Amino acid sequence: MRKIRLALAGAGMRGRTYTDYALAHPEQFEVVAVAEPVAHKREYIAARHHIAPEYCFEGYRELLEQPRLADAILICTMDDLHFEPAMKAIELGYDILLEKPAAPTAQQCAAIMDAAQEKGVRVIVCHVLRYTDFYAAVKRVIDQGLLGDILSVVHTEAVGHIHQSHSFVRGNWRRSDETAPMLLAKSCHDLDLIQWLIGKRCVQVQSFGALSYFTRAHMPQGAPERCIQGCPHAADCCYDAVKLYLKDENNHWFRNVAGNKVNPSNEEIEKALWEGPYGRCVYQCDNNVVDHQVVNMRFEGDTTVAFTMAAFNQGGRHTRIMGTKGELNADMRRDSIELFDFQTREIKQISTAGQEIDGSIRDGHGGGDSGIMQAFYEHLNGVYHGNALGEIVTSCTNHLIAFAAEESRVQNTVVDLDAYIDRVRAQR
Ligand SMILES: NC(=O)c1ccc[n+]([C@@H]2O[C@H](COP(=O)([O-])OP(=O)(O)OC[C@H]3O[C@@H](n4cnc5c(N)ncnc54)[C@H](O)[C@@H]3O)[C@@H](O)[C@H]2O)c1
Repeated sequence: MRKIRLALAGAGMRGRTYTDYALAHPEQFEVVAVAEPVAHKREYIAARHHIAPEYCFEGYRELLEQPRLADAILICTMDDLHFEPAMKAIELGYDILLEKPAAPTAQQCAAIMDAAQEKGVRVIVCHVLRYTDFYAAVKRVIDQGLLGDILSVVHTEAVGHIHQSHSFVRGNWRRSDETAPMLLAKSCHDLDLIQWLIGKRCVQVQSFGALSYFTRAHMPQGAPERCIQGCPHAADCCYDAVKLYLKDENNHWFRNVAGNKVNPSNEEIEKALWEGPYGRCVYQCDNNVVDHQVVNMRFEGDTTVAFTMAAFNQGGRHTRIMGTKGELNADMRRDSIELFDFQTREIKQISTAGQEIDGSIRDGHGGGDSGIMQAFYEHLNGVYHGNALGEIVTSCTNHLIAFAAEESRVQNTVVDLDAYIDRVRAQR
């Protein structure tokens, strides 16, 4: 099979994850160009992949001013910097692995899917859950017809209270006006997953939700703006930044993000806690995204779905799928899938074991990070035979469920999806 030459736009957490896969699979991929404004991140990727200096750029604009330098581009910039590079890369004929969300507005999502279709390039949005062994096993049960006709689904995304505090209170995705509403930023995976599992079109959506807890109203008396200023409540506060970022030296994810580099020193973390967003008291941030939300959906054939996203839990995903022949209970955190068969009235454990891809980076999103890279490689070589890949039209249409649900939450309405999509297209 043909080795795929990759360009990387955005050498942050996600960019490093995908290019690490390339490094571990030199027979599949070669990273030949990088665009990243932060010098030490750009140099890190350049050194790991032996990228020539003339193929290192200070931003995606400079990279995309060049004629096409690679077969495909990984767009791993932040949410508000997906649209421009995606449209330019499509124009240049790059195939694209595009981080989610495809774009922060419904109109931009529609524009990307139309442009990709017109140009005939392949754009895959990083809905990594589809590529996990766990949800592949759930999908197999459904496709084998063991549940019969699916009539009802209850799906929960338990974000985890600490994850919420890190990403959606202190961190990058705390403000819907800067990145995207919570449903798009966090739960676009779940809305995509539900639609993929059911295999039907969503026709109506309704939502409620609020930011209830991570607000100034819940600030304990006398808490300083930054935990490191000697908060009198530190010992009892599970969100104490000193504990989470400085003392827990094994939490590489949090430390790398707070320090904005790979393996920052304790001095660098301390400086970040004094100066950066991750040092702030969780009750005194400028966050505005919800910390709990429900979405009710009606799919074709009157399949009903209730989805809940909430911060107040340990974390994990749970999916209960109820069909005319059986019921499936999938608990991702416990790696457990149970199938109750109506005929036999027996409960069967479904194996989640899948194909071993690469032990070292298999952990990322339950194997989804390596799974999507493997699928992307096979897809670009025309030999992908799985059922997980979602083309850009499917991903963007599923994003539109999130936008419509957000409209419902804010305007207190029930949104008809077809009418919503027509309205979005007319506004382009
Ligand atoms: N698929 C998933 O499960 C998943 C998980 C986490 C994040 N994400 C998404 O991945 C994207 C990146 O997230 P991240 O955590 O890696 O963020 P990050 O901040 O670590 O990385 C983004 C990088 O883009 C760089 N950048 C900024 N301007 C640029 C420009 N003009 N040209 C090139 N690079 C530029 C930044 O300097 C930074 O290094 C986000 O859209 C996020 O929502 C997806």
